[in-house]
This record gives sequence, C-alpha cells and structure tokens, in this order.
Amino acid sequence: MATVIDGKAVAQTIRSEIADEVQLLSQKYGKVPGLAVVIVGNRKDSQSYVGMKRKACAELGIKSFDVDLPEQVSEAELIKQVHELNANPDVHGILVQLPLPKHINEEKVLTEISLEKDVDGFHPLNIGKLAMKGRDPLFLPCTPKACLELLHRSGVTIKGKNAVVVGRSNIVGLPASLLLVKADATVTIVHSHTSQPESIIREADILIAAAGQPKMIKGSWIKPGAAVIDVGTNAVDDPTRKSGYKLVGDVDFEEASKIAGWITPVPGGVGPMTVTMLLKNTLEGAKRYIE
Ligand code: GUN
Repeated sequence: MATVIDGKAVAQTIRSEIADEVQLLSQKYGKVPGLAVVIVGNRKDSQSYVGMKRKACAELGIKSFDVDLPEQVSEAELIKQVHELNANPDVHGILVQLPLPKHINEEKVLTEISLEKDVDGFHPLNIGKLAMKGRDPLFLPCTPKACLELLHRSGVTIKGKNAVVVGRSNIVGLPASLLLVKADATVTIVHSHTSQPESIIREADILIAAAGQPKMIKGSWIKPGAAVIDVGTNAVDDPTRKSGYKLVGDVDFEEASKIAGWITPVPGGVGPMTVTMLLKNTLEGAKRYIE
C-alpha cells in the first residue's frame, strides 16, 4: 500500500513557519507582508478560491488587499487597478484570479503585474526564466511549487527519474513540467492528443496528474512504487451528501493507492499546499522588498 501524503499536515507545518517569519518581520521592521487578491465577476469556483486565499492571509498575519470588480469591468480599468497596486508600497504580492471574462486579454493583464510582485509566477518573463537553464524566476507558480514541495518533503528522489505530467495548462501542467526538468527529471507531457497515454504513464516514476478529468488514471496505469501527485479537483454528483457532490482527483485513488509508493489524496493533498505556497511567495516578495 502507498504512503498517503498528508498535504493538509505539511501545509499546516509550513503555515506556522510562515506565521513566525511574518511576526519577526513586523517586530524587526514594523512592516507586514501584503497580498492583493483581485477578482473579476462572480464565478462560484473563483469566489471560493479567492475566499480561501484571503482567509489564509488573515490567519497568518498577512494583510490582504481585496479588489472585487464587476464582470463588465473594462480591460483598461483592470489594468489601472493593477498599476495602482504595483505602486502601493504596502502591497508585496498581486494575484489576479483566473479565468478572466472573455472580453479581457489575460496575457495583457498578467504582463502588467510588476515582476517583483508576481506571486502567482504567471508573468511571461517569470515563466520564460523558468524554462531556461541557469535562470531563476522571481516566483514559482504555486500549484507546481506545491507538487515539488510535497515530493521533497516525502523524500522522493527526482533527479534522473522518469516524470510524466498529464495536462499542459499554463497554470499547472506546463510549469510543473519545467520545474521537473530543472530538478533533473526526464519529463514527458501527456495531453489530449497523446496516443496511448497509459503506456507512457506506466513508465512514470513520478506522475503529476493535472488533466481535470475525474478518475481518468486507473490503478493498472501506475508503475509499482511510483510517486503520484494528483492535482485534479473534480466535483462529481454524490446524492448521499448534503451538498449533492464530492471532490475526486484525476487518479482513481482506491486502485492506485494499492500500487503506488506515494500518493496524494483529493481533497487534502495538493489543494491546501497551493494556497500555502502563495503565502510563502508573498512572504518572500515582502522580505526582498523590506530587508
Ligand atoms: N485559477 C485557478 N488556479 C489559479 C491560480 O493558481 N492562480 C490564479 N490567479 N488563478 C487561478
């Protein structure tokens, strides 16, 4: 049976380390790290993620600057808000929740965020540096950073291993594959046009699943002893629950946990770590600015 990686517990440990550092900064310099969380519109999932991020800031003593804009806001107005946050010395990190409404050019907005405050690591220059040998971005994207942190803290060797990333999104799959290359893994990306994905996944010593397809990856696809990091958070109907749904990953946990060496559960795996990495990035940004 696989070791189940308790993301919630690891996240708690890291959060208490961050809280201590936040307190130290405030004692030493009288300054508090600040994170601006910008949301456009009323998407339920985005509202829920943003709520979690703001709540986590409050719990750790990080000041959150809330910017809530209506669905119809113009691209120019959103960019104006970003510029104001760039200029605000109390703001050390800026996050624009994605996706944005269709009338707004996402790339244009992300490019306007000051590189020094790009705590999501989505600025094209930060992603570009992530892709280049010998260059380091100022911030690493939070979910891929969470995946690598869970592997490191579980004692999984990455160097020289076969890693397979399922999914190639700008937020998770692509940056996760770049991070694994930087950590000296041999990396294959599986996506919707890959023929026979299971035969590639079967070779994975490390598997990062970020396809957004409930239980797509079966136990028989897992290499015995592999480290499986499941980024999927798919809501599926469950009439036995009050909410009417439950969250499942991209991996069939019941089956895969019998074969893998390590596995993250959903929920309670990568999820709590992602927000924690955002807080860590904000602290790093603040320290760079203040110290
Ligand atoms: N939408 C889904 N995940 C993310 C994330 O990590 N950051 C932002 N800004 N938007 C998201």
